[in-house]
Amino acid sequence: MFARRRLRLISHATLLTSFALLGCSSPTEETPLLGSTGQALKQSQEDDKGAKGKHDDTRGHQHHGRGHGHGHGQGHDCDDPTAPPPDPVVFTPASAAARSGRLAGVAVASGPLASEPIYGATIAAQFSDIVPENDTKWGPLQPVDAEHWNFAPADAIVDFAEANEMRVKGHTLIWHSQAPAFVNADASPRQLRRYAKRHIHETVRHFRHDMFAWDVVNEAIADDGSGLRATVFADAFGEQYIDRAFHRANQADRNAELYYNDYGTENINPKSDAVYALMTRLLDRGVPVDGVGFQGHFDARFAPTFDQMVENFERFGDLGLSVNVSELDVRIARVAGSTAHKLAVQKRIYQRVSAACLATAACEGITTWGFTDKYSWIDSTFGADDPLLFDDNYQKKPAYYGFVDGFLGVPLDDPSLQPNLIGNSSLETGLDGWSVQGAGALATSVDRAHTGLRGAIHSGRTATWNGPRHDVTRLAQRGRAYDMSVFASLSGAPLVNTAFTAQITCTGQASTFQRIGAADLTDTAFGQLAGVMTLPDCELQSVAVYVEGPAPGVSILVDDLAMRERPLPNLVTNGTFETGTAGWFGWGPSVLGTTTDAHSGDLAATASGRTASWNGIATNLTTRVAPTATYRASAWLKVRNAATSPIVLTAAVRCAGQATQFVRVAAGTGNSSTWTELSGSVAAPNCTMEEFTLYAEGPAAGVDILLDDVSFNQTTAGLGANVLANGTFETGTGNWFGFGSVTVSAATDKARSGVRSGKVSGRTATWNGLATDIRTRVTPGRSYRANAFTQVSVPSAAGVRLTLQSACNGAPATFTNIATVTANNATWTELNGTIAIPNCNLTTAVFYIENAPTGVDIYLDDVSLREVP
Ligand code: XIL
Repeated sequence: MFARRRLRLISHATLLTSFALLGCSSPTEETPLLGSTGQALKQSQEDDKGAKGKHDDTRGHQHHGRGHGHGHGQGHDCDDPTAPPPDPVVFTPASAAARSGRLAGVAVASGPLASEPIYGATIAAQFSDIVPENDTKWGPLQPVDAEHWNFAPADAIVDFAEANEMRVKGHTLIWHSQAPAFVNADASPRQLRRYAKRHIHETVRHFRHDMFAWDVVNEAIADDGSGLRATVFADAFGEQYIDRAFHRANQADRNAELYYNDYGTENINPKSDAVYALMTRLLDRGVPVDGVGFQGHFDARFAPTFDQMVENFERFGDLGLSVNVSELDVRIARVAGSTAHKLAVQKRIYQRVSAACLATAACEGITTWGFTDKYSWIDSTFGADDPLLFDDNYQKKPAYYGFVDGFLGVPLDDPSLQPNLIGNSSLETGLDGWSVQGAGALATSVDRAHTGLRGAIHSGRTATWNGPRHDVTRLAQRGRAYDMSVFASLSGAPLVNTAFTAQITCTGQASTFQRIGAADLTDTAFGQLAGVMTLPDCELQSVAVYVEGPAPGVSILVDDLAMRERPLPNLVTNGTFETGTAGWFGWGPSVLGTTTDAHSGDLAATASGRTASWNGIATNLTTRVAPTATYRASAWLKVRNAATSPIVLTAAVRCAGQATQFVRVAAGTGNSSTWTELSGSVAAPNCTMEEFTLYAEGPAAGVDILLDDVSFNQTTAGLGANVLANGTFETGTGNWFGFGSVTVSAATDKARSGVRSGKVSGRTATWNGLATDIRTRVTPGRSYRANAFTQVSVPSAAGVRLTLQSACNGAPATFTNIATVTANNATWTELNGTIAIPNCNLTTAVFYIENAPTGVDIYLDDVSLREVP
């Protein structure tokens, strides 16, 4: 009835050829050994295992009945076909994981696999095994009714895997989500049981020779760990459905490893405790479960630590189960800071996960849930993000290098430091981002490294200033300082004072050279070169760092380059109150004092005798803030005389000649027993500021405020991408419309960039203008920096402004002034402001330019709206 797939064994001849090619010796720079030969070996190990039967545990790890081996050993033995392959010159996730007999797998989507050659090519080059992202789920397999199976999309993935000598894991047999329509609460328990039985039998039999493992039951435990998740299966059968699914899968394929899979279980918590208890019961009842998958869908802000993961994974290993991380991705959209910073935080987490797998004897491997940010389920489920190892253009991200490093035992980045912005810092995967300053050639160093197994060596130097160089232009921000460090060594001279230098080029100017640090280096060990790199406040054309100094002919080895953002100074000079409340004053009636009930140190500030909710404790920052700059504020608060109370951080901002504006920086609920952190960002207006005061307020009259650890720093970068689709009008007025009955056009008589600008004419009311709908482009509750340029058709028009029309839940719209300027008809005037999008069910959000006198045409160009971190 169903097309049978033929098992494609790798012939003994192929195997022997692989060994001959590998040569059973250390690699040299001339003979790079990459992916596919190693893949052949892994496949052969599996076939070997299949032949020997499931109970042969080559890993030496105590299994509870059903053992599976991948030979977690090091070193290669030519006589032993189960030994891992020799090390290649440069590593991939697959070859790095294979060093310890582990797997680096990836979830595969059939759409891009069929349509984009680079998608499949990258998978084949980088990963050891694959998991169909959707095509082996029950619903996709039985989309029509209980009698028919649609195996074609999954078969195509299996064919791809076999063609590339990769292994395949099936995912997932029994899951409450993505199940067929006929699997619902109306089905009788008898029917449900029959559906599940046939589905498991037909599906597992169909792929009997293809899948080395199956996720049998997915997400069966409730999120709070209180018991089984309420599903049609649990409602009908209780826990029995889990036992039955494993037994049936085992009957259909005696060789596949059978996994239980779940999320939010990566550290020890009530949910992972519940999974642990379930596994214990299954094993006690003799249910053929082999392992546990930990999905690993992380938000970078809350990812577990290395120790938490290892401790948790090990307790499952101690039950005799294999463990794997089955669906790894790391969200970074909500991490504050620059893009480079977010990507560096992400790298740390990927490395932490692969290091945790390496540290856990029972860990079989890690599967990432996709590999290119172009195709990730995260964007449609959690919002736009970049959670994977490769970017939208299939370029390696910092996370990629961290992921490889973790499998190779490269030490984790020190969590007490700012994260290292350099992606390819340890040089295990090749020379990406590295080049030479001056003459000579750079190669991977295979026999000397500071950490891991690889470094870089620069030979053929012809001048003292030649040396290995790394470009950091895309990581560097104008006006900021960085802690820099690199480890280096020499070949060809015993001892030389060696320098670490930055070459900095501001656009339109000559390069300058900055000495970061220097040290005496030897040819026997790696030594550290470290110091601060301070960048000028100019438009940076390029920034690179390099090592130099030794005489021509001496080779320089480098490894472990680090570049860390130095924190911006706290503009609040006395934010800890350790010596009193100097620099702070009462905002309205409010008596300041100190208390030993401190968040840190010995003292915190108190504001008592308050007679209104807006009274509080304030500090004046007027002379420290700059127009248009963005700031991040953070403070710890507690209340007294009330169990809980609203708490707010507010900025009172007054531009010359205007009324004071009160900007809500952050708000929350204060508590009398614990400290609460309030943090948020605020942009200074583009005006001459007569006042900028930051203060804590909010509780009802009579409630005291306790305040400690206040910081206020400028965030020079980190604005998100422009969320507007057509801010230049170069291709017309797409996405824009007239506000009121007016004429809009992409005019060619004025343009700030390109050849066109947006123009609105025929205005018969001051509120008429040029508008764009941003409702689906912005996230409620977030702030956006608006920037645009305007001209008008008359010599001077006061009050031209950008406005946000917004409404929540269909309520009447409110209008917020974003920025106001006096515009003219000769030069472009800049509009700059911040919009706080209301945190509600946003039913209207229109962004427009308006308010010139009637009859005056308004031009608009280079409009951007970027999220404030
Ligand atoms: C996701 C897929 O990635 C999406 O394409 C699909 O629309 C929904 O399912 N936990 C799991 C995976 O076990 O099967 C889910 O995959 C992600 C969460």
